[in-house]
Amino acid sequence: MEKRMIQVFQPRLGEDELAAISGVFERNWPGRGQEVDSFEKEFAGFLGVLPQNVLTTNSCTEAMFQILNLVAKAGDEVILPTISFVGAANAIVGQGMKAVFCDVDSKTGNATLERIKAVVTPKTKAILIQHFGGLPAEIHKIASWASEREIVLIEDAAGAMGSVYQDQPCGTFGDFGVWSLDAMKMVVAGDGGVIFAKSTEKAAALRERMYMGLSNVSGASSAGQQKRWWEFDVSYPGRRSIMNDISAAIARVQLRKLNENLKIRKRNAELYFKLLKDVPSIGMPLEDFTDNLSHYFFPVSVPASKRDDLAEYLNDHGIYTTFRYFPLNRVPLYGAQNLEFLNSDEFAATTLLLPQHVGLVIEDVEFVAGVVVQAMSGGIQ
Ligand SMILES: Cc1ncc(COP(=O)(O)O)c(C=O)c1O
Repeated sequence: MEKRMIQVFQPRLGEDELAAISGVFERNWPGRGQEVDSFEKEFAGFLGVLPQNVLTTNSCTEAMFQILNLVAKAGDEVILPTISFVGAANAIVGQGMKAVFCDVDSKTGNATLERIKAVVTPKTKAILIQHFGGLPAEIHKIASWASEREIVLIEDAAGAMGSVYQDQPCGTFGDFGVWSLDAMKMVVAGDGGVIFAKSTEKAAALRERMYMGLSNVSGASSAGQQKRWWEFDVSYPGRRSIMNDISAAIARVQLRKLNENLKIRKRNAELYFKLLKDVPSIGMPLEDFTDNLSHYFFPVSVPASKRDDLAEYLNDHGIYTTFRYFPLNRVPLYGAQNLEFLNSDEFAATTLLLPQHVGLVIEDVEFVAGVVVQAMSGGIQ
């Protein structure tokens, strides 16, 4: 019999999502349509922003490519934390911009204003930060500092759907916020992404660019209203970066379940904290559970000399763990491989992400915590 493995991340899809897909099949329209429109409006409602400022796309990575393409050009510098998702750096370097890394806080893995200030130059066009594992960065301070200098602030809130900082949703502080709907996120659509643009004009520009740059509506929806409805104009040589109704139908159901699922994530996190807080040499960045957070990751820190052994010990006991995100200054392609970032190196050497998802039951969390305790009290040397 195959050994049961507790996964580190996992979606939870069921009958409700299946029924929503059936509805799409019944309407015989799997492309972009009413499900996408409804999801965009509902997501705007969830954020508490105007619907015209929210648009969907096929992934969060694509969202970052598109936004940077709109606001920056080749040669511009874009600051990002060393601990960032690989797609963030690709969106910068892949479009001829320069990735300028900043160090992170060694406890949370987040960029701080102080670290950003240390690397800003007159060529800095944008800052692309994330909220590591859903724990908010000091976004209020960063947003006002960036706005005073007319530096574009993009918040990668892929892991922070449901995280609130000072009563405001993460992803709505900067000029742009982006979320992911991939298979491991808080709202799963298979694949997909959401963009919030503070400027309505920029949201409209992105919408146009992300549908091949078509600047007027052609095709069936214009028939009867426009003479020669097959003619069109193109304002920008854009790609086709849209979501479809199958993904959006799943995402709508998942969004309705978000609050309930966030409670499960919070329960898991609180339980891990309770069971691990007195274990010598285990640290946890979050100690206060009063704020509304996504609890996307549950990171623990252990001495660097033990981290890899702990991961192996857990794996041997049927528990898969991992570390995200490998420091990007260590990736030669991004051109910064010789730079030392002490906090980021420490964070990357001492952090391990324990299983955290809505498929975990209380007994799973207790089991994982129990094996961690076993490992740290003699199981590993
Ligand atoms: C922090 C962060 N940003 C961005 C992304 C990219 O999302 P997508 O898979 O939708 O491109 C991910 C995906 O894991 C992520 O974790």
